[in-house]
Amino acid sequence: MVESKQAQLDRVRTDILEKNICSELAAQATNLVMGDGNLNADIVLIGEAPGKNEDEQGLPFVGAAGKFLNEMLAAANMVRSDVYITNIVKYRPPNNRDPLPEEKKAFWPYLLKQLQIIQPKVVITLGRHSMEYFLPDMKISQVHGQPKRIHFGEGRLVVIPLYHPAAALYNGAMRQTLIDDFLQVPRIIEKL
Ligand code: URA
Repeated sequence: MVESKQAQLDRVRTDILEKNICSELAAQATNLVMGDGNLNADIVLIGEAPGKNEDEQGLPFVGAAGKFLNEMLAAANMVRSDVYITNIVKYRPPNNRDPLPEEKKAFWPYLLKQLQIIQPKVVITLGRHSMEYFLPDMKISQVHGQPKRIHFGEGRLVVIPLYHPAAALYNGAMRQTLIDDFLQVPRIIEKL
């Protein structure tokens, strides 16, 4: 019998817990925040790491940045259940500091497993922390909103780098850029 996507993702979660990935972060966190949304989505959005609200609720993007993410989705006539949302680092870094390179490296194989299970058409990276692994050496200010085809496992994957919603929260121009970039996504998918 083919194992369901949910069962496969549950195994990824168990693996992270059993291998004690990023034990220092884990010791301070309330929840391991794996991701949320539609397991058959065409689009997977990847943020940086959980914040305080996300850690408390065990769900990604449920605080202020998440509220703006919901607005971006609404602008494109989408809701959260149309997409899958996760982060590169799955425990909250203390005091919301940036995730460390070794933390991103430790969680990267698990993010790849999530993508192999969900099989989206497009990955949207939110901010430079998740972009740098998919599109090394690119500058977000130069490539935001532009679809990039990359090799992924046996096949290929389209990655669209966007700014992080938190960076745009208090910056009107960036807010508009982020919404404009996101509005292009359905058109990019149609053309694939
Ligand atoms: N910022 C992120 O990058 N991820 C979250 O889940 C919340 C805020």
